[in-house]
Amino acid sequence: MIVIDKVSKRFPGKIKDLEVLQEIDIIIETGQLVSIVGPTGSGKTTLLKLICGIDEKLHSGSISVDGILISNYQGADIGYLPQNLALAKWLTVEENVAFVLRRPIFGLSKKQIKDKVSSLLEQFDLHHFRDHYVDQLSGGMRQKVALARLIATKPKILLMDEPFSSLDGITRFHLNDKLLRMWESYKPTIIFVTHDIDEAVFLSTKVVVFSHRPAVIKEVFKIDLPYPRRQETRFKSNFQDKVEQVWKTIEE
Ligand SMILES: Nc1ncnc2c1ncn2[C@@H]1O[C@H](COP(=O)(O)OP(=O)(O)O)[C@@H](O)[C@H]1O
Ligand SMILES: [Mg+2]
Repeated sequence: MIVIDKVSKRFPGKIKDLEVLQEIDIIIETGQLVSIVGPTGSGKTTLLKLICGIDEKLHSGSISVDGILISNYQGADIGYLPQNLALAKWLTVEENVAFVLRRPIFGLSKKQIKDKVSSLLEQFDLHHFRDHYVDQLSGGMRQKVALARLIATKPKILLMDEPFSSLDGITRFHLNDKLLRMWESYKPTIIFVTHDIDEAVFLSTKVVVFSHRPAVIKEVFKIDLPYPRRQETRFKSNFQDKVEQVWKTIEE
């Protein structure tokens, strides 16, 4: 369970501090998929960076995983997919995924790594592009490489920062599906940042709505639509109702 407890965050400024997060409280139960939606600049990325420990400076409050403060937590259990993907341009698709598996803590042989990468590339329909450099791929394919790399080591917690926001609608639907199947297969805890309300409702067990900066939580929506959710779910009236409720809260 991830507990974000009254987290406030400020960035120091020359004249005045920039207040970004204000007493944010979120509980994310193990194995849930929770989305955070909110306007640009509200502090969503800032919160993810605090959870994965890239930024350690809280103004007040605390973040803990299974009762352990994040500053003392084993980082290998947390996978972070930053907004810019952070793929290595000088490596091929295969090497980008293999790279994370070579870390000594995983203790994998060369053969094990090769097999694992092959199965991941198949899972994401990338096997015909294994020897391509990431610059030679479409946006959707790059996103899939980043997803394959993210889950290669099966982290217990996945933090995803607007992973599909630059994609066209069809590719995005397709990747939403892939993400849900992956989540259903090994049930990591996922925190998913997006500014797309449909996507948030479609994927999540819970949607947290941030206000404009400094972000406070405007509302938390439990999304009790049954899983497995497939594209047909988007056309159901209870899905549309939830989307409308979230949208109204954001607009208020
Ligand atoms: N390292 C930083 N130093 C100073 N200000 C920052 C830093 N990172 C983010 N900010 C500011 O914090 C606010 C929230 O940023 P961010 O978390 O990236 O928003 P979001 O992801 O919701 O679009 C923005 O106004 C941004 O300019
Ligand atoms: Mg952001």
